Amino acid sequence: MSHARIIGSGSYLPPRIVTNDQLAADLAQRQIETSDAWITERTGIRQRHLADDGVTSSELAAEAGRAALENAGVGPQDIDLIIVATSTPDFIFPSTACLVQSKLGIKGGPAFDVQAVCSGFVYALTTAEALIRAGRARTALVIGAEVFSRILDWNDRSTCVLFGDGAGAVVLQASEEPGIVGAKLHADGSYAGILNTAGSVSHGCVVGDPFLRMDGQAVFKLAVTALTKSAAEVCAQAGVPVESIDWLVPHQANVRILSAISRRLGVPDEKVIVTLDKHANTSAASVPLAFDAARRDGRIKAGDLVLMQGVGGGFTWGSVLVRM
Ligand code: ACO
Repeated sequence: MSHARIIGSGSYLPPRIVTNDQLAADLAQRQIETSDAWITERTGIRQRHLADDGVTSSELAAEAGRAALENAGVGPQDIDLIIVATSTPDFIFPSTACLVQSKLGIKGGPAFDVQAVCSGFVYALTTAEALIRAGRARTALVIGAEVFSRILDWNDRSTCVLFGDGAGAVVLQASEEPGIVGAKLHADGSYAGILNTAGSVSHGCVVGDPFLRMDGQAVFKLAVTALTKSAAEVCAQAGVPVESIDWLVPHQANVRILSAISRRLGVPDEKVIVTLDKHANTSAASVPLAFDAARRDGRIKAGDLVLMQGVGGGFTWGSVLVRM
């Protein structure tokens, strides 16, 4: 088996939906001014799903994972690798992947987390593909799961309106037929300062800043440049023209970022999967959530060429090109 194919997908969103108007009303009680008009116009976000207190990434991840196993028609006994992409793990350790393994009754194979913030899912998928192609695993459960609401400063209107909670998952299996046909990851740690949550736990106390901080305009520019280059790079690697992409599934950060990338690549808007309006930015969960939504509503079909792209803190970015 020299390839790895996606054979199923699933996702899960916490049931509590908070619209922009509801969020603006909540923030107004604390004298923080925002509006549905500002959020929609600047970002494309109309609502987000938020997990109730106490609900963890591993719980969202397990629900998404269960749905993906069912969709793929495989059982817990078939999974011999679990990778969870998250920057909001339940604990410092054990990993969220180990907790998911236990929740789903999966046994024996390796389970670990990947931390690449909003690029986490493409990092995890690329890692799983490499392990499968090397013969180290046969059927992998790859999940992106986040409760970003826990690391938001709800007094900072420039960040707290942007994010939501959720999880998405795929099952990747060894195959004779090509599935993942290209993958390329990048990082540039010199940009760590433009997007971070720079706190830690030491001697029983939080040290540093426990909340997400961002230079929005710097992130915006870097995201557009990095993802445009990355798309061209991974298509060249696979030997296919960018125009042959059937679906672009980018990280869902800002609709203006998505439009800028699709315009530069010459990919028509109707080929770009957008869930940002309903989910907001769910970090590592955004790509698999969007992918699963488009598979389930029948847009992404067998034989389609799908480009998944992640970009986020680190700075990290990357693309995975998939033949369905
Ligand atoms: N409601 C109302 N006004 C606001 C809000 C808000 N929620 N947030 C900021 N403003 C105000 C600012 O205070 C500023 O006011 P001023 O002109 O009086 O100073 C004004 O709106 C404009 O602020 P900017 O930051 O210049 O607005 P911009 O058009 O750059 O939009 C945004 C900000 C949406 C964050 C944009 O820069 C962006 O999307 N950047 C990309 C970053 C991103 O998506 N990050 C997600 C995480 S990283 C990732 O996923 C890749």
